[in-house]
Amino acid sequence: MDTVRLILGDALTELAKLPDQSIDLILTDPPYLEGDFSWMLPELLRVGKRLVLTPGKLESFNWIRRQAPVWEYAWQSHTQSLGGRACLHIAWEPILAYAWPLRPLGADLLVYPIGLPDQKNGHVWPKPIGLMRKLVAHWTNESQMVLDPFMGSGTTGDACITLGRKFIGVEKDGGNFAIAERRIAEAQLQPSLLPNHGFHLTAAPVGLWDGEPESGAGAGEANR
Ligand SMILES: C[S@@+](CC[C@H](N)C(=O)[O-])C[C@H]1O[C@@H](n2cnc3c(N)ncnc32)[C@H](O)[C@@H]1O
Repeated sequence: MDTVRLILGDALTELAKLPDQSIDLILTDPPYLEGDFSWMLPELLRVGKRLVLTPGKLESFNWIRRQAPVWEYAWQSHTQSLGGRACLHIAWEPILAYAWPLRPLGADLLVYPIGLPDQKNGHVWPKPIGLMRKLVAHWTNESQMVLDPFMGSGTTGDACITLGRKFIGVEKDGGNFAIAERRIAEAQLQPSLLPNHGFHLTAAPVGLWDGEPESGAGAGEANR
């Protein structure tokens, strides 16, 4: 299997092609989809051994609310308005982790700023790269396979590549797909962020939770 596979297409069609439990982690920031998607959560859990959703809000996602996650966390995003005025908007967005056993994150709150000029990449709502790195590093080991079926500008893919994970990304919008393609090509040229290259996000290689208490992570971590 390729290290990186980017698919311009429909997530629902592409998910159906994947065998049961073939993906180590599905990590995605799903769009609001109109219609009956009650089958979506079972389908994501069929394909992924672990599933983590980062929807901006829950009100619009009936298919997500049908099943309680194993763990619920929040990340806090600050949007500072530009133009010289110190206007601070603080929002809390959920992180929902499914599939047992899944190692607890060790912090109820992660803090990542959004909307900073260097995060603008052409997509309307890119997630902070630091948040995606944290989640990928915590819930997968090196060389494991991550799928983002709604990859947008490819933030999950960028995190996976610099952390040495394999990645499959699906995006149906051609403009967003082009942003993701360019970004992931750039990530492939970046230096590795693996611990043995001096980058430390988690204390040790992790995977499914073995029940041992976690070390290293604390509440209110701040990263970009
Ligand atoms: C909330 S955005 C993801 C943003 C992404 N996390 C990032 O950092 O750029 C959701 C994406 O899903 C895409 N999308 C919507 N419906 C889709 C579908 N059926 N299949 C694949 N992608 C879809 C949208 O075009 C959008 O880019």
